[in-house]
Order: sequence, then C-alpha cells, then structure tokens
Amino acid sequence: MIVGCGAVGMACAVSILHRGCQEELVLVDVAHDRLEGEVMDLCHGLPFLPRTDLRAGSVEEEGRDADLVVITAGVAQRPGQSRRELIERNADLFRRLVPPIALHCPRAVLLVVSNPVDVLTHIAGQLSGFPAHRVIGSGTVLDSARFRMAISRRLGIDPHDVQAWVIGEHGDSEVPVWSRVVVAGSGLVDGGWEGSRTLADPELQELFHDEVRQAAYEIIRLKGSTSWAIGLATAEIVEAVLRSKDQMLTVSSRSHGHYGLPDVCLSLPTIVNDSGAAALVQMALTEKEMGQLRQSAELLRGMLDEAGF
Ligand code: LAC
Repeated sequence: MIVGCGAVGMACAVSILHRGCQEELVLVDVAHDRLEGEVMDLCHGLPFLPRTDLRAGSVEEEGRDADLVVITAGVAQRPGQSRRELIERNADLFRRLVPPIALHCPRAVLLVVSNPVDVLTHIAGQLSGFPAHRVIGSGTVLDSARFRMAISRRLGIDPHDVQAWVIGEHGDSEVPVWSRVVVAGSGLVDGGWEGSRTLADPELQELFHDEVRQAAYEIIRLKGSTSWAIGLATAEIVEAVLRSKDQMLTVSSRSHGHYGLPDVCLSLPTIVNDSGAAALVQMALTEKEMGQLRQSAELLRGMLDEAGF
C-alpha cells in the first residue's frame, strides 16, 4: 500500500509496478478524485507491466493487512525551504495517519518517505508501537545514489561499478563516506581506476559533498519537486523487503546507540529484508566521518526534542 499519491507517491507506484515483486498495490490519498484519475490512468498501462492487482482504496478496507506500507503523505518542500521546516505540519499529520495504519496493518513493515524522513520515521515508530526494525525510512538511499552518480560521471564509469554511501540525516548534515568509496573494485587511494585518485583531494570532495547535499534544492528550484529518483530508490527498498533480499541499503532506522550515537532514526548501512531493518552493519569510519555522523545524530535528537518526541 502507498499512502499519499502526489508526485512522489505516484513515482513510487510506477517504479514499484515495474519491479513486479508485489501481487497487489493499493493507493490511498485524501484527494479522492485525483486518486481515481491516477489509478485509471495507470491501470491502462498494466498490460505492459508484470501482473499486479492495482486499486485505489482506504487503509481500513482495501489496504488492510498490507505487508508493506509506504508513506509519502505530507507537505513537500517549496523552493528554498529545507526539509526541517516541514516538521511541525508533517508530525501533526503523522499523529492522525499512523495509528490507523498500525491498527489495520499490524504486521506491516512501515517505510516512511515523507520529509524530514528521519524525524518522521522516529515519530512513526513511536506512534505505531511497532518493533523498531519494522519502521524504516528511505533515508539516504537516494543520496547514496546521487553520490554514486556524481563519481560515475566524473570518472566515466558505470554507476553500478561505483560503491559509495551517504549516511546520517537525509538532509543538510548528511555524511558522504569517502573512506569507503570503491570504484571498479579499488579504493580511491589505490588508484585502480584511472583518475580515481584525484577524488582523494579534500577540496574536490567538499565540492562533491555540496553537489549531493544541494541536489534536491536545485531540482525543486527547477521543477518544483523531486520525484523520479526518490520513486526509484523507494522501489529498490520495497523489493529488498518483499523479496527478503538481505540487501545492504542506507535506510533510516533506530540507531540503538550503534557507534555510540544517540538513539534516533538516521541512515546507516543496514541489511534490509522482510523484517525491515534486520541488522546494522559496522562500517569502519574515519575520525572525521565519525564526528560528522555524531553531529548529524545530535541535530536529529534536537529536532525530535523540539517536536516533543
Ligand atoms: C530528495 C527528497 C526526497 O532528496 O528529499 O529528493
């Protein structure tokens, strides 16, 4: 089930439908007419997609007992606005939205996509009463993809041959893990791929960091919202859950004091399967990366305190 079918929810729907890892997909939105139009439109494309029973519906009826609930509902960023500025309104919405989802889908994995995603994942965890591993957020899965794309373009290599992760907040304090970047099987300083050693330069790394961090602001300035890549990133997480892939993804989940961090939701390398965030991976970090991660966690703790969670 997808709750919230604006630009992001529909991009998630299309990307998920292409994967074909679900038998049913129920779309839920308060704007009934628009939703009906979206579902009619999309249903006409089902002959071109893996078989799925696609319907509009409600959490209480058609969505009842869903295995996975993707939440994209909420106000979105406007040009120049940060994700953090959305906390109050989206936290209020979650207070109304999450309890009925928890009641009608008691065994579901909750996947929060709405922003600020880490704060709302934490809030959804508290409001649902679900075990922590069953409440995850899209976190920095998209930022990690942006990081891989930036490196891939610079070095002229397929993004599939770039392993790179962004951890921490999905937002301004996110942390690119330069020390663990692998290009075509080699670390940056090993220089296995021509040119990759140039990326070991701290000034260049700062430019890349800025590009990844600013990406959403730039897209929102240009087209009003981001949608396609977050939809594709969400579908990757959905497939990891529904096919129980044990895939390492930088989803947001409770840190449980991992790395000595405050216990907030934020992105760390995480094994994702049908139980949600099955395990956190202990990735070796440099002192600088560890300091940035701690700062990110502390910022998130401050936001939660302000929101009263
Ligand atoms: C972005 C939104 C999903 O980064 O926060 O595109």
